[in-house]
Amino acid sequence: MMKKPFYLTTPLYYVNAAPHIGHSYTTIASDCLARYHRLKGEEVFFLTGTDEHGEKIARAAKQSGTSPQEFVDKNSEKFKKLWKTLNISYDFFLRTTDASHREVVKRALNALRPTLIEGTFSSWYCVPCETSFGTSEVDASHPLCLNCKRPLEQVEEVDFSLHLEDHRRWLKEYMLGHEEFILPPERRNEMLSLLENELPDLCITRPKERVEWGIAVPFSDRHVAYVWFDALLNYISALGWPEGERFPRYWKEAGAVHIVGKDILRHHAIYWPIALHVLGIPPPQTIFAHGWWKVGEEKMSKSKGNVIDPLDMVSKYGVDPYRYFLLREVPFGQDGVFSEEALVTRLNNDLANDLGNLVYRALTMVEKYFEGKVPEAKKTKDLESEALLETVDQKMERFQFDGALLAIWELIRRANQFIEEKAPWKIAKAKDTQTLSSVLYELLETLKGVSLFIYPFIPSTAESIWNQIGISQKISSASYEDLGKPLVLAGTKIRKGEILYQKVER
Ligand code: ME8
Repeated sequence: MMKKPFYLTTPLYYVNAAPHIGHSYTTIASDCLARYHRLKGEEVFFLTGTDEHGEKIARAAKQSGTSPQEFVDKNSEKFKKLWKTLNISYDFFLRTTDASHREVVKRALNALRPTLIEGTFSSWYCVPCETSFGTSEVDASHPLCLNCKRPLEQVEEVDFSLHLEDHRRWLKEYMLGHEEFILPPERRNEMLSLLENELPDLCITRPKERVEWGIAVPFSDRHVAYVWFDALLNYISALGWPEGERFPRYWKEAGAVHIVGKDILRHHAIYWPIALHVLGIPPPQTIFAHGWWKVGEEKMSKSKGNVIDPLDMVSKYGVDPYRYFLLREVPFGQDGVFSEEALVTRLNNDLANDLGNLVYRALTMVEKYFEGKVPEAKKTKDLESEALLETVDQKMERFQFDGALLAIWELIRRANQFIEEKAPWKIAKAKDTQTLSSVLYELLETLKGVSLFIYPFIPSTAESIWNQIGISQKISSASYEDLGKPLVLAGTKIRKGEILYQKVER
């Protein structure tokens, strides 16, 4: 049987600087979803990449004294390297400077040409956000970006634009008719209220005299494509639109799930569906806009210079504690304040005390009482790890990573309590081998369930537990169906390793 397809994307990050915690957040959350859907037996296409054209990149390249191409080559690597460190299981990494993507952008521009209006446009432009604001939206005596609050530049130039207003009513009706289209609901309401008022035209070109670093517009030798228009098209160019096989399977059959930060929701929820509509392509299935990680009161941002380097956090605390913290600490969709202290608390309590101890105690007892071999017994219903799947499913389908983890940790705590209650050391003293086998087997089977449940969130830890309990099959090819299969086999040698997490002293 053909597997069900699932299409998931992160934003394409600008390569003007190295990635920070914010970028890693979106990518880790997406990775978690991708792994979860693979465990459900779906065929996942997980896309990420880098946004490499436009004024902001050109200025950053100039400042660093290198050519734009050299500059983007070097910085795009920093993202790839970080994703490798963070265990990101993307299927495709798209760079907007890739030849195949550039071709798609040209084809899309040609297809849109008959609907475009050429004219002189005045606007306020934010270079860090690469976004225009209409003259009526901005206070001219104090022109600040509506998104990032930085000073705007006034531009007046001849461009080709899309008349968004023609499609406002269609988009509004679509949004009203599809609750899952924009999530979470408060963000959907924001977008609906934007659609209450007339939409300004969207310039999808830039004159070369102002911006040289971009994709040439096929019908005007005076223009390059607007960087946002170029970047958004990545979501279909990665699928080989229009003829590529992946396009019908992942865009139409699966429906795209775009994970983005709330700073770029307007581009995704308004400009992108309208551009697709004009091209005759259906909208993505879901656009989920998460909140911001802040430092104090401020959004963490490359151009504000208040960033924390994920590599520093990982070298101090490890990859999985970092991933766990980001996904557990703040409900997906809300803002959070990044704090190392809070990370250490999660590491010491949830990971070292609850999970690390459970694994260590269970395996130590198997070593002590059964010479390190899985005892012969039947799985009982004591800890009910299989029943957790329904709750995890419900949470994950709603992007509630923290809720899923909370439920998984209830199982982990229940298992620790089970050890206290059963007191296997007493059973051993009484020489009741059958009961002892049953208790330890239940613990090992529960650890198998725990590994599967935590795998999307903290994959290295999951893999380590999976191997320690002696399962020979690879966890990367496992599925939730394995919850009901006896994979922990009597007589198999367990491979108890080092303690999973060292506590951090404060
Ligand atoms: O906007 N907290 O790229 P970008 C949480 N190239 N997430 C954050 C964050 C923070 N403080 N800061 C950044 C662009 N992010 C465009 C996208 S897509 C076709 C083009 C994350 O490098 C969050 O996902 O500025 C945000 O939307 C994204 O990085 C912006 O990345």
